Amino acid sequence: MISEDSHWFKNARYGLFLHWGPYALFERGEQVLFREHMDQTAYAQQACKWDPQSYDPTEWAELAKRSGFKYAVLTARHHDGYCLWDSEFTDYSSARQAPGRDFVRAFLNAFREAGLKVGLYYSWLDWRLPAYFEGPEKNPEEWPKTLAYLHHQVEELLTRYGKIDIFWFDGAWPRSAAELRSPELVERMRDLQPGILINNRLGAIEATDTGTENVHGNAQSPGDFGTPEHTIRAEERMWESCQVANWRLWGYARGERWRPADVLLDSLCHCAEEGGNLLLNVGPRADGQLPGPFVERTEQIGRWLNLHGEAIYGVDGGNLTEFITHGRQTLRENFLYLIFRFWHGDPILRVNDLCTPVRSVCLLTTGQELPFEQKGADLVIHGLPAKNPSDLFPVIRVECTGRPVTNQWGRERNWGGDPQRIADWARESGIPACLDGKEEER
Ligand code: GLC
Repeated sequence: MISEDSHWFKNARYGLFLHWGPYALFERGEQVLFREHMDQTAYAQQACKWDPQSYDPTEWAELAKRSGFKYAVLTARHHDGYCLWDSEFTDYSSARQAPGRDFVRAFLNAFREAGLKVGLYYSWLDWRLPAYFEGPEKNPEEWPKTLAYLHHQVEELLTRYGKIDIFWFDGAWPRSAAELRSPELVERMRDLQPGILINNRLGAIEATDTGTENVHGNAQSPGDFGTPEHTIRAEERMWESCQVANWRLWGYARGERWRPADVLLDSLCHCAEEGGNLLLNVGPRADGQLPGPFVERTEQIGRWLNLHGEAIYGVDGGNLTEFITHGRQTLRENFLYLIFRFWHGDPILRVNDLCTPVRSVCLLTTGQELPFEQKGADLVIHGLPAKNPSDLFPVIRVECTGRPVTNQWGRERNWGGDPQRIADWARESGIPACLDGKEEER
């Protein structure tokens, strides 16, 4: 089971996903081979010639480090079957084709060196293997070899390169966990790498798990953490939302548009607020360089994290009181962080429904202490600057005397709880509905 030292994952909150392989040559995402029904041999010929001249994982790792990422996951092998490491079980790899290099090893060394945790992505499905898609019943002869290939490659990745912190399976469709013998493999993986975290994409559990349930796992599938994809959805267990920084492809796509830094940062804050991680993806270019717009955005977020990181790292959720009219909130120990999506410029901010006594209030963005008064569950903060002090989201840190707690209004919000609460409120402070009596005359 999950070992104690995996707490790093919950504290980390922000990881970098790297989809990189020969598909980058075609500049239309990681699945161009399948989506455009390309001839596999023609693709492989190009893939074997792929020879990135600017692959410098130290540069990637330095960027990741200064941008505030705490871990990184690289596609060791995607659905096209091309391996970024020197696998004994195939020649279709960066080590045995044009580059003559073990890209996985270089990646792991560079990121560990920079102090980040490391993970490897591995696709069960491989478009080159017909038996994978036929399965053990239809193709009993080839199936055992196919399965051995997959299990052996996973073992290889876990025995050759030192400590691997995360193993990130993908593409289990259309196979079940029983067919893939993933429970057995997971056990073996834990023997080889005690403390490793394994995601939930381990094959369908029920015959009814179809489509994306099978590909992406669901809340019931085993695994140490859930992997909501292109979406933010909290799970009971640890979870990590994987998101692209552009539109929807994971591999490099020329001419793609990039989400603005505030949209990306909001995804990170949203994940933190809900108690999960964001695994933000980039598809490096075929030559190994990271796309400029991605670098600019992540550096800007990194500068924000430098000042406001305590509102993200190590927080255990948030969303304590109703704060949607300003932005998001996170919680850590006795601190409540108010993260402003927008700044209205008034000198006074009222925070409702915070029942714990407040000790101090600080505008983290400038370090300025802010005067406040607290009456019952109403906290009134004074002295806010008229101008937004951040190019992204300013943050106010509220320190309480204990773990911040809220009241019924903070818990129930809109469309929840006993509607009598709203009736009482309308009676106490509402205006009569028929002000001029016209309603009655009708
Ligand atoms: C999907 C896609 C794949 C991508 C992955 C990332 O399963 O098939 O291309 O790598 O999601 O989560």
